[in-house]
Amino acid sequence: MGKADRSPSEEFLPKHRLLFVCLGNICRSPMAEGVFAHVAAEAGRGSDFHLDSAGTGDWHIGKPPDERAQAAALARGIDLSRQRARRVRPRDFSDFDLILAMDRDNVRALEVMAPPEAQAGVRLFMEFAPETGVREVPDPYFGAEGGFDHALDLIEAAARGLLSHLIDGR
Ligand code: 4NP
Repeated sequence: MGKADRSPSEEFLPKHRLLFVCLGNICRSPMAEGVFAHVAAEAGRGSDFHLDSAGTGDWHIGKPPDERAQAAALARGIDLSRQRARRVRPRDFSDFDLILAMDRDNVRALEVMAPPEAQAGVRLFMEFAPETGVREVPDPYFGAEGGFDHALDLIEAAARGLLSHLIDGR
């Protein structure tokens, strides 16, 4: 199919291919992908985005998101069960326009992994929720139960901020 045959919603604007990244790709970045898809769909813009998530580490490749992440997301009406963990790969830096890192360690790891021809921008996801005063999504994996809900609150704020930034340039 030629470019001219695509409807506007099929034609991804350069800024609309988003990759969410954390360490294990079983807690924060799958939640971020699911939450962003949810808020974009609520705004009627779901089909404008190509979304994925990946980890800088390789321990959990092929696994679904952590059960605690799935349960916390499902309580908000967000189903993560079809996601599977994978590691960041070099072509992600050209297949995506924007890579959203959950914390500064992820940013540093991404900088090391980026091939010379990398095109994607790498940003801290929480930059899109300045009102929270938080710059990193804390890793809930080794923490207490409430950590997943807290992470989801932060992720939801950043997802809404990112969506308005991408849609309205705000
Ligand atoms: P995530 O959490 O980076 O939010 O997916 C983690 C999951 C697993 C591990 C670390 C962080 N781990 O060391 O196995």
